[in-house]
Amino acid sequence: MRKIGVLTSGGDSPGMNAVVVSAARSAAVAQMELIGIKRGYNGLLGKSDHPAEDMIHLPLDMILDIADLPGTYLRTARCDEFRLPLYQQVAAIALRRNGVEGLIVIGGDGSFRGMSDLCALGIPCIGIPATIDNDLPYTDITLGYDTAVNECVNVIRAIRATSRSHDRAHVVEVMGRNCGDIALSAAASTGAEILLVPEEPWSIPQVASRLQALIDKGNTRVTIVVAEGAYKGSMKPFNVEKFLLNYHDTATLRQSGIKITAFMLAHILRKLVPQSEIRATVVGYTQRGESPTARDSLFAFESGHMAVELLNRGISHRVIGRKRGHVFSMEMDQALKAERKFNKKMYRLVNA
Ligand code: ADP
Ligand code: F6P
Repeated sequence: MRKIGVLTSGGDSPGMNAVVVSAARSAAVAQMELIGIKRGYNGLLGKSDHPAEDMIHLPLDMILDIADLPGTYLRTARCDEFRLPLYQQVAAIALRRNGVEGLIVIGGDGSFRGMSDLCALGIPCIGIPATIDNDLPYTDITLGYDTAVNECVNVIRAIRATSRSHDRAHVVEVMGRNCGDIALSAAASTGAEILLVPEEPWSIPQVASRLQALIDKGNTRVTIVVAEGAYKGSMKPFNVEKFLLNYHDTATLRQSGIKITAFMLAHILRKLVPQSEIRATVVGYTQRGESPTARDSLFAFESGHMAVELLNRGISHRVIGRKRGHVFSMEMDQALKAERKFNKKMYRLVNA
């Protein structure tokens, strides 16, 4: 191949820039031109005010400096139209018209589905799993997950320090969409005593009685780590008294459509366990905006290189992953069929 493209899609994730630099390095070695596509699949649809700027040359010298920067230099976006075959065809035509012979997609499972559609239209593609959520089961880690966990660990350690000083309990909410991996790793790494994740049922009375028991034993600085997906629902008016009467367990909570948050959970627990003097913190977008850890940077380096090498050998429709420390590639449809296994043993140990 003489010319290949790269795009970042879905939520940004630490390490995306490092992949782009690694791909630029490998492309330069293979004497290929690298084209950066702006704002995910949007950059292939000619939608912006300046469509000519949606596809840019990425010579290695120009982008070397971005490798350790968080965020994504190419920008990212969620592009709903891309689910429709018509827009996928527009994208394939744009790539061919610009002489782009292969594409590297850096994103999560949604981005991979879009990539699969492009492959079906004859565009060779390779996917690199980049999402802080770690919700792609075919790989041990996704790019950005390690950085997000480290950010949560730093925040939780600081919270536990001030909580100890004040004999207070604390609810800490972390990201992860429908996946509890960030919460599990962050809780296990910090010694948090209660963990709530989407994969396991939980109830408010259970949490309250564990909190009470821990306080009775003299542990007043209990940390409750909650994955955002553990209480997901849509926004409805919220009444704590009614909530306490009717919505005890996760199943009813989810059906209710009520969106509770770390602050509401802390409020409810304060009523049930008055000695807890509980507070709440939502870690939020700093999880996505930190500079990549060495582990994420290394994965980015290796996967960017492997993606270019595969395309150059005429291999397509594969995604890259990392298992037991080794970077590998596998057929994409197979990868997307892999079943998710939540580490229940570790979950039980945290809550033991
Ligand atoms: P992630 O890639 O992090 O999972 P999203 O689920 O938001 O993030 O998907 C990113 C983008 O991938 C979407 O905005 C859309 O452009 C594309 N995409 C998602 N699902 C599909 C699909 N089923 N078919 C085609 N494109 C898709
Ligand atoms: O997928 C990454 C992620 O940060 C999730 O953890 C979170 O639920 C979601 O994206 C937030 O998305 P947005 O940037 O659209 O608010």
